[in-house]
Amino acid sequence: MRRRLLIAACAAALFGVTPAALAPTALADDGILVSAQGRDAYSRPLPSLETGRGEAFRHGRSLFRQAWLLAPSAESAGLDGLGPLFNRLSCIACHVKNGRGEPPDGAGDVMRSTLLRLGLPGAGPHGEPAPHPVYGDQLNPDGIPGVPGEGKATLVWHEREETLAGGETVRLRRPEVLLRDLAYGPLGADVLTSVRLAPPVFGLGLLEAVPESAILALAAGNGGRPNMVWDVTKGASALGRFGLKANQPSLRQQNAGALAGDIGITSTLFPDEACTAAQTACRAAANPRRPELTDAQLDALTLYVQALAVPERRNADDPVVRAGGRLFADLGCASCHAPTLTTGPHALPELAGRTIHPYTDLLLHDLGDGLADGRPDFLATGREWRTPPLWGIGLAEPIAGRAFYLHDGRARTLGEAILWHGGQAQPARDAFRDLPPERRAELLAFIRSL
Ligand code: HEC
Ligand code: HEC
Repeated sequence: MRRRLLIAACAAALFGVTPAALAPTALADDGILVSAQGRDAYSRPLPSLETGRGEAFRHGRSLFRQAWLLAPSAESAGLDGLGPLFNRLSCIACHVKNGRGEPPDGAGDVMRSTLLRLGLPGAGPHGEPAPHPVYGDQLNPDGIPGVPGEGKATLVWHEREETLAGGETVRLRRPEVLLRDLAYGPLGADVLTSVRLAPPVFGLGLLEAVPESAILALAAGNGGRPNMVWDVTKGASALGRFGLKANQPSLRQQNAGALAGDIGITSTLFPDEACTAAQTACRAAANPRRPELTDAQLDALTLYVQALAVPERRNADDPVVRAGGRLFADLGCASCHAPTLTTGPHALPELAGRTIHPYTDLLLHDLGDGLADGRPDFLATGREWRTPPLWGIGLAEPIAGRAFYLHDGRARTLGEAILWHGGQAQPARDAFRDLPPERRAELLAFIRSL
């Protein structure tokens, strides 16, 4: 709390805004925004969610928060099936308070709310990343009793200094992946890795409801590219929207993928445990009950993620914030971080026909060598990332105490995140660096107000 007050006081001193201007405004009544007050600002249902859906929302919330148990578990039938290999016991362990995760501090730490995707050059039959033959497509550090966890990954950081207009210096750090205790032999020289920090999970139903045509229309104007990925239910190619490279077509599939890949819970979408042919102990330990999750449970979890509301903006009318908003447009940030979209029809009618302000185009952009992971993901190249939504980003630090940005959490401040932009965003990034310090502060005040 003291820290939060301090942040508010610093922000007030820095940007010349009164503490009153930082206070949340009243609850909006348009049905998709919630008050930004409190540490559960990312965890509230759409105010317009019909009361009849409250029970499914609460069921989904308990599935998102619960720690999965070893099977068979007498006391909680239907809530077991952890592993055989897994990263964490629950969704909320990575999506902390429904927000972003934290990368490891350094060599002595391990990945807790960050994961390491693996693969080989080339692609699978549907264009998906070719999995590593022994370790699969993701490192699972833990196993149930009798099944060795695959190994531990951490990051070591390399820093360099950058000088901005006006003489301010910023230290930018880049991660290097460090692996130890690999239980199934070496990964080999041709392995591809991609570090991914858990992103926030609110507002995603609204992004699912944006018509495909609107996303493709943005691509025609801003140099972005749609990812086309594999829809498991339809058995067909589909526009990707979720995941840091837009590698999942729907929240249902995204959630089922997380259950299988991160926790080891099978579903009708992904009925097989994530054990490779070489992982015999994992295969032998596979739960005979398949799938471990019922469709009703997957539907509840998906409704929960779809119906998480977006926190309201704070101090949007402050003159400093307004000036920052104009810079956001002038510098070209808004061409990718699209401020306004309109949703179309959706199975959840509460999401349909809304004007939203997500600050994303859901498209892939080449952000240059500095951010490249070198691991293609369907049509996304090793240099491309999906523009992340910026709504609610100003609350990341107040909610968690400290916050990390970009796909691997390398940025410790919003300013660092902007300075890492390269490739298609190089001109916007250079313009930010070259702004006089007080203009840069305006832009940052605007982003903190989102
Ligand atoms: C080990 C950490 C971890 C766990 C556990 C985890 N996630 Fe995630 N989640 C991530 C990461 C990392 C990504 C980005 C994945 C990518 O880009 O491939 C992600 C992405 C997502 C997204 C897409 C967000 C977006 O902006 O597109 C949703 C939704 C999601 N996870 C839901 C869940 C659910 C539901 C569970 C529990 C069943 C879960 N996650 C468990 C780390 C985790
Ligand atoms: C060419 C498209 C493009 C432009 C222009 C652009 N961005 Fe981004 N932005 C992205 C992409 C893609 C990422 C994700 C990069 C990653 O995670 O490695 C990103 C990430 C961010 C993040 C971190 C978000 C998070 O959740 O971690 C912030 C903040 C941000 N951009 C702000 C800005 C600002 C401010 C500008 C203008 C100075 C700008 N961006 C210009 C595409 C763009």
